[in-house]
Amino acid sequence: MSLIRQKLLRWYRKNQRDLPWRRTRDPYAVWVSEIMLQQTRVETAIPFYRRFLERFPDASSLAAASSDEVLKVWENLGYYSRARNLHEAAKIMESRHGGRLPETPEDLAALPGIGDYTAGAVGSIAFGRPVPAVDGNVRRVLARLYAIGDSVESGPGKSRLRALAAELVPQEDPGAFNQSLMDLGSRVCTPTLPRCPECPLANVCEAFHQGLQERLPVASPKKSLPSESAIAAVLLDRDGRFLVVRRPLQGFLGGLWKFPGGFLRPGEGLPEGLRRTVREETGLPVSVLMELASVNTVYSHFRLRLTAFRCRKRSGGIVPSAGPDCRWATFEEMNRLAFSKADRLLFPFLPVCRPRSPAG
Ligand code: ADE
Repeated sequence: MSLIRQKLLRWYRKNQRDLPWRRTRDPYAVWVSEIMLQQTRVETAIPFYRRFLERFPDASSLAAASSDEVLKVWENLGYYSRARNLHEAAKIMESRHGGRLPETPEDLAALPGIGDYTAGAVGSIAFGRPVPAVDGNVRRVLARLYAIGDSVESGPGKSRLRALAAELVPQEDPGAFNQSLMDLGSRVCTPTLPRCPECPLANVCEAFHQGLQERLPVASPKKSLPSESAIAAVLLDRDGRFLVVRRPLQGFLGGLWKFPGGFLRPGEGLPEGLRRTVREETGLPVSVLMELASVNTVYSHFRLRLTAFRCRKRSGGIVPSAGPDCRWATFEEMNRLAFSKADRLLFPFLPVCRPRSPAG
């Protein structure tokens, strides 16, 4: 056990990646980085992390921001519940913990968005607590090191690996130890073609001894993602502004802006579905004029095809009044709002109309 720790820490001291969140011990910054890294690769997270900390350098500035501001900095990073949870957690820190990240595991785990992994990562890296931080990379390393044949995504597989990680983590510098496992997983003990000749643990690795490194870890078969179709209405007012609506904060992509519309029902035609969803969302009766574009994207649980149509308000319809969740916005204003991925893909296809002259 201690041999594994020693080998890993020695390797980490020489080979650790120089990452911006490793240049600080500020618990707030470590927490932000770990939330970003929950679903995002290191290279992708770096520019977002820098921008986020520049804009919100501490819990107080984050707590004081509007949800639009937070989502705009998070735009394109995906899994937006992470941004909403960060924002909520910062408000809790302000009101209950003097504007700081709480240190005890119970208080940490009580914050929104903090599960076992993040509590372990933040507890060990920011507060020096000897707790494990087991993400996908670490599971792969441990499944190979101990030649574990259970699926690493199954309940029993996960708890076995977590117990092993908990035994391994040292009292001294647990943060460096946990990060050494992460770095080994991303640089050496890679999902395919692991670089065993470069690995500091090769001579204690059970999978390597048995020649199983390419077959482990065992993963559960991937489910194919269902496909959904949605429609969006591009409606302009007399000044060439677009009607945009904000999604409810609690739901899917909560708080992000979109064009009016929604999901098609089974068997429903596109124009029919568009008239229904726009009416449901904004109260506005519309005529569907022409198709503008169809875009495809993949979210975590489904594939989406979004088709946009140029629409016109039907006579007699009452134009929705601007409010916090529904507004007419110029193209420039839309660029300052946070839009969901599929809706933003429609931007290049928008008819950018000049405002009418006062006489016209
Ligand atoms: N993935 C999650 N947390 C990480 C960290 N602190 N360093 C590198 N990769 C990570």
